[in-house]
Amino acid sequence: MMSSRLSKLIISGSILLTSMTALSHDAASDAGNQAIEYRHSVYHVIGWNVSPMHAMVDGKKAYDAAAFTKHANRVAALAPMLLEGFPPGSYIKGKTEAKENVWTQRAEFEALLKKFETRSTNLATVSQSGDLTKIKPAYTELVQVCKDCHEKFKEKDRD
Ligand code: HEC
Repeated sequence: MMSSRLSKLIISGSILLTSMTALSHDAASDAGNQAIEYRHSVYHVIGWNVSPMHAMVDGKKAYDAAAFTKHANRVAALAPMLLEGFPPGSYIKGKTEAKENVWTQRAEFEALLKKFETRSTNLATVSQSGDLTKIKPAYTELVQVCKDCHEKFKEKDRD
């Protein structure tokens, strides 16, 4: 018969092995979940800043040049932060509304992200003019990229 010390050692050794295997699995999906959380956060902050610009362009809120520029500058600063939120391994069904083609049609996805960056920088620049007749088309061009990308790369159940 094994000494109880030895059997305890064997048991704790096998528990350790099991938890190590579980840990390596979790590490992969943790990184994926963190990326999903990160990109959701960036999109939420972008959405927060787009919404008052939308209201001003739409005439639902009085146009305030300084506020508009502040929001446009923020979106321009956030746009380049999106790409790193879509690393390989961050397509986790049920956790993300990104479609799998974000990873399989990568060149097209990245081109849209680039366009988003360029147009958000353009809006920030144009917003300094304080001229709504110039700002409106630059704003419309920017949100067109949101629509184009969501249509192709995002599940339809939300915006
Ligand atoms: C290049 C592609 C692309 C562009 C451009 C883009 N989005 Fe998205 N957006 C996505 C994808 C993909 C998701 C799904 C992310 C996920 O669930 O992991 C998403 C999700 C979101 C979400 C939901 C986040 C959540 O927590 O579920 C919001 C809000 C959002 N986008 C707003 C916008 C707005 C506003 C713009 C434009 C000003 C924009 N997006 C531009 C691809 C894009």
